[in-house]
Amino acid sequence: MNKALRKAVIAGNWKMNKTPAEAKELLDAIKPLVKDADCDVVACVPFVDLSVALEATAGSNVKVGAENCHWEPSGAYTGEISAPMLAAMQVPYVIIGHSERRTYFGETDVTVNKRVKAALANGLTVILCVGEYLEQREQGVTGEVVALQTKIDLQGVSAEELKRVIIAYEPVWAIGTGKTATAAQANEVCALIRATIADLYSKADADALTIQYGGSMNAKNAEELLDQPDVDGGLIGGASLKPEDFAAIVKAASR
Ligand code: PGA
Repeated sequence: MNKALRKAVIAGNWKMNKTPAEAKELLDAIKPLVKDADCDVVACVPFVDLSVALEATAGSNVKVGAENCHWEPSGAYTGEISAPMLAAMQVPYVIIGHSERRTYFGETDVTVNKRVKAALANGLTVILCVGEYLEQREQGVTGEVVALQTKIDLQGVSAEELKRVIIAYEPVWAIGTGKTATAAQANEVCALIRATIADLYSKADADALTIQYGGSMNAKNAEELLDQPDVDGGLIGGASLKPEDFAAIVKAASR
């Protein structure tokens, strides 16, 4: 982390977990544990939990996010939710391009880019996920893959809009597997993403960008990962469902 230059952000990604009643219970448990955080704290929850989550976190330092949004404002897209719908609910954050969306639901960098632009146009802050598959790391093309994703996913995004973008570097082989990237591996790719942003925008824009690491970050390894200069936070899956573990990660980002 480099808090002199940019914000540290710890975001939970609840994925397809928790009913509305369970969401309220989890947030009620998390809130007191993170109330003194010296970093931004976000809980990204399933669409059906958004209402309850906004209510449960009102007046607290926990912000709410969605896990995806469509690029069109409305229309014949059964099962999708649009950015204006999230904006109307005053949901401040949205995850876009998570590897589970890319792997299981056919998301490409082109559709990710459209979703990013729609979210930004509607005033949301985007947590944009990029990351390589294991084969790509083994082939030595991690840098190329992540730079390409970053470039395509941000096509047409202005420097002004970039201020509402957080990039989450999530190596796919580390997600939900218990296999974390080493602190050095995480920092190397986060630094590379920052260099890509410096090329596309400016060094000042790159310096100000929050870049999270995600992939089996937990209460034990968070401190070492967050100690890296280019790792500005975490996108937390499994551990975000456990209040004490999530709070421990928030504490590690609050130093
Ligand atoms: P994990 O998930 O922490 O369970 O590995 C991270 C993510 O998918 O964002």
